[in-house]
Amino acid sequence: YGGIIAILVTGGAGYIGSHTCVELLNAGYEVVVVDNLVNSSKESLKRVEEITGKSLRFYEVDLLNRKALTNVFKENNIDAVIHFAGLKAVGESVYKPLEYYHNNITGTLILCEVMREFGVEKIVFSSSATVYGDPKVVPITEDAPLGVITNPYGRTKGMLEQILTDLHTANEKFSVMLLRYFNPIGAHESGRIGENPKGIPNNLLPYITQVAVGKLVCLGVFGNDYDTKDGTCVRDYIHVVDLAKGHVKALEKMMRDPGKVDIYNLGTGIGYSVLDVINAFEKVNDLKINYVFKDRRAGDVPACYADPSLALKELGWKAEKNIEDMCRDSFRWQKANPNGFEEENSDIVVRKDGSVIKK
Ligand code: NAD
Ligand code: UFG
Repeated sequence: YGGIIAILVTGGAGYIGSHTCVELLNAGYEVVVVDNLVNSSKESLKRVEEITGKSLRFYEVDLLNRKALTNVFKENNIDAVIHFAGLKAVGESVYKPLEYYHNNITGTLILCEVMREFGVEKIVFSSSATVYGDPKVVPITEDAPLGVITNPYGRTKGMLEQILTDLHTANEKFSVMLLRYFNPIGAHESGRIGENPKGIPNNLLPYITQVAVGKLVCLGVFGNDYDTKDGTCVRDYIHVVDLAKGHVKALEKMMRDPGKVDIYNLGTGIGYSVLDVINAFEKVNDLKINYVFKDRRAGDVPACYADPSLALKELGWKAEKNIEDMCRDSFRWQKANPNGFEEENSDIVVRKDGSVIKK
């Protein structure tokens, strides 16, 4: 430990977590990751170490396993927690509400109980713009009223914001950072880590990149009759590396100004329509994306983008990368890793002629 501040990153093997580990290591923090790998691969953490030239500690532990989690706190001098671990598929959560509530809510409760046992009083939480529901006014400021959330996944975010706020009310030394992400896309510019969805992607960018590499045939654009500039939905896409840097800034703010509940929007402040994103992707990567218009997707709001000025004022953070960077980096990652992290993990190699060998 030696005086270096150790940060526990739950869900650190995942998409946003792995990028945040890079930024934490680069900023000189000691990093301890807890992840049960339900939606990730530990290969991502090897690559984090390769990118930074630094090492981290990884525990393959489920947050629901109190004993194993307690052991992590025993073996490490944890100063603060960045809590990414959770299930995040909106559609799936509608069919598996028990699994989502149990994993996301109970997992967080156990984490907070173990934190209390070890006197750890700082937590940064991955919330989402979904807590605003269908916003009455855009761009959205943090004091906008919370909206109607349309799915169990999103409701876990709203509930956990409330639960963490209650923990602060009960113990004013308990510091809480609620970071409301807009739409994270892109990948580390090395092309070594990125988003690796299992099965057919639900989110726009992974779907586009898989069409671009030929894994999927055609993108469906969900609705072209919204009251927006071109009829397709508008979102605030933010580069995952900018988002990761926002976590380091949030951590620093929490260290210098503890005992608060702080809420920040992490977005760029710019709204792009689905067609804007397709156009930017085509232009920067010099290709065409095959797409058709489909019906609206249930639960989508027409327009959602941030007013990120509070994060600039109080954290000294703002997004630096633009939509072209996001599209270029997403595609670089997808091209270099058409099967995500799986290939290097497996000891089975499929040759070009289709034959299979063992490494
Ligand atoms: P991700 O699935 O890539 O990462 C989540 C990680 O948590 C995975 O590695 C998974 O294996 C792990 N995990 C899940 N349940 C666990 C448990 N019980 N114990 C231990 N590990 C567990 O997702 P991400 O995109 O990196 O998202 C990170 C966080 O940010 C999540 O909480 C997500 O809800 C939130 N968020 C994501 C987005 C987005 O669009 N990606 C938007 C808003 C908020
Ligand atoms: N879209 C398509 N076709 C697709 C996928 C998406 O047209 O195949 C459209 C959607 O209709 C939406 C936009 O692309 O208009 C973005 O959709 P995503 O699924 O990529 O992202 P969302 O804005 O729906 O969801 C994101 C996060 C959620 C979070 C939500 C609200 O993935 O975790 O923002 O903040 F809850």
